[in-house]
Amino acid sequence: MAGALKIGIAGLGTVGSSLARIITGRANELSVTCGRAIEITAVSARDRSRDRGIDLSGMAWFESAEEMAARADIDVLVELIGGAEGPAERAVRAALDRGLHVVTANKALLARHGVELAALAEKKGVLLNFEAAVAGGIPVIKALRESLTGNRISRVYGIMNGTCNYILTRMEKEGLSFQDCLTEAQRLGYAEADPTFDIEGNDTAHKLAILTTLAFGTQIAADEIYLEGISNISIEDIEAAADLGYRIKLLGVAQQTDSGIEQRVHPTMVPRDSVIAQVDGVTNAVAIESDILGELLMVGPGAGGDATASAVLGDIADIAKSRPGEQRVPVLGTPAEALEPYRRARMRSHEGGYFIRLTVADRTGVFASVATRMAENSISLESIVQRASSTAPATEAKTIILVTHATTEASVRNAVTAIKAEDYLVGEPQVIRIERPKAF
Ligand SMILES: NC(=O)c1ccc[n+]([C@@H]2O[C@H](COP(=O)([O-])OP(=O)(O)OC[C@H]3O[C@@H](n4cnc5c(N)ncnc54)[C@H](OP(=O)(O)O)[C@@H]3O)[C@@H](O)[C@H]2O)c1
Repeated sequence: MAGALKIGIAGLGTVGSSLARIITGRANELSVTCGRAIEITAVSARDRSRDRGIDLSGMAWFESAEEMAARADIDVLVELIGGAEGPAERAVRAALDRGLHVVTANKALLARHGVELAALAEKKGVLLNFEAAVAGGIPVIKALRESLTGNRISRVYGIMNGTCNYILTRMEKEGLSFQDCLTEAQRLGYAEADPTFDIEGNDTAHKLAILTTLAFGTQIAADEIYLEGISNISIEDIEAAADLGYRIKLLGVAQQTDSGIEQRVHPTMVPRDSVIAQVDGVTNAVAIESDILGELLMVGPGAGGDATASAVLGDIADIAKSRPGEQRVPVLGTPAEALEPYRRARMRSHEGGYFIRLTVADRTGVFASVATRMAENSISLESIVQRASSTAPATEAKTIILVTHATTEASVRNAVTAIKAEDYLVGEPQVIRIERPKAF
């Protein structure tokens, strides 16, 4: 049997302590399946006195992750600190520079520095694995990087933030407001004290940027993502969606179009009978559409110590089984120097169906005016209904709900601008894009 693979774990929080517990608790099974033992020889975190439920004796302790990466007797740095800059970045760079393999769960780091780090790993002939960085325990990186080789991918999309999906699910199932669901998610530990990063879609955007690169062989372009969070989704939207046969999910979508690649994160109406519409609570789902395979949909735990550690462990096992200097697959699916520049498709050119909810003064002619503004912008309507507003007295305001056939974002924006110029609108119009899964 080959000598043990020595790992250093930087970060012993939710994921790091789960990983350490699993590796120490399953040492024998792992050495059989990996063909060699996996040994934690060094660890790093801030507070040495904190009880993490693991026996750290026999492991060298480092206050600085960077120092551990530069000095410890290890073959692999496992980075589980988090953050695009700071100690995580410094430790990963130090490890790669020294010719160590790296495993990380850090989407923020990859979204910001992924191409550069991939180039460094490739230059040094080491592996940089990051399965846990997107959709936690779901093996989507491996699927894109290895299993779908040769496929031309047309669209990747998914539910990649458990906090948002939990909130939207509870709003729908229990008729609670966004704010009430957010408070409940915070109480249960599903949302951070400052939830902005999750609910405004930034976390999904980081993951999407990584998937886009793997799917389309382009440079990571995390700053070029159209972003809309879920904080302005109301119960009225959720109820109207349900009446029309849809559910609302926060999706990240990357799609190849004639004018470039669309990357967008926004609340999305998906048909109620589609599989992705059934993905509730903190569960994640990622769908990949490609020419040879068709549609692949993976559903599973997107977060949590054990589920995330499971993905990290799979990455470590891949390294344990690799031969020295062997780089079976490029870090980002395509060699870093061969990644194409990212060509952004303008959001105004996006084509699809739209849900538009308007609260309007209850006056004769308003309904006809709304229909006319749509027609003037060549928008064909699948349905248009008027009903009493649930937020204003029925005598004063009505709600008009429109569902369009496929049209462009530009047409919808122009029509909404024209409606806003009229004097009958009460409050802001709500516009939600509709996404249709291909097969499921
Ligand atoms: N949690 C999840 O469900 C999940 C899912 C997918 C991906 N991830 C990713 O996994 C990574 C870790 O997440 P987590 O939830 O485990 O985070 P966490 O619970 O906050 O743990 C972070 C760890 O990093 C340590 N740390 C912080 N600053 C440090 C520094 N300057 N030097 C050394 N160690 C430092 C902390 O030390 P102390 O313990 O001493 O404070 C702690 O052990 C992140 O990149 C995250 O995005 C997490």
